Amino acid sequence: MSASLDLLERAKVAAAKAYAPHSHFQVGCAMLTAQGNIFTGCNVENASYGLTICAERNAIFHAVAEEGPGMKIATLAVIALGHEFPPCGACRQVIAEFATPEMTVWFLREGKPVSMTMAELLPAGFRI
Ligand code: THU
Repeated sequence: MSASLDLLERAKVAAAKAYAPHSHFQVGCAMLTAQGNIFTGCNVENASYGLTICAERNAIFHAVAEEGPGMKIATLAVIALGHEFPPCGACRQVIAEFATPEMTVWFLREGKPVSMTMAELLPAGFRI
């Protein structure tokens, strides 16, 4: 199985664990780090909606907690059960913090895996 298909499959498993009683939108993320570890995350919602964390940021923050501040994302995949989309704008900004412009993000489009680079997803991101 290719690395991207494996990550998409793991993202789907993570999506099934989402805590999404408010939107009923179950999202999963799986990412491979430069060190070779895989981390997953799902969205976790809150009755105070703004406190919700997206699947992508959940996975990334877990990766940093495990690998430390040098964590770099090698590839990332996102899936929502019954929906198809690339990461939201807020998550793109967070992904960019830990990735090169060439890093590929995988998601589904009409049922098929497609990838976009971070340069394509966030061409003029904020950097300091
Ligand atoms: N969501 C994600 O987990 N990732 C995204 O990239 C887009 C949105 C979640 C947040 C919320 O729980 C639900 O999807 C609906 O917006």
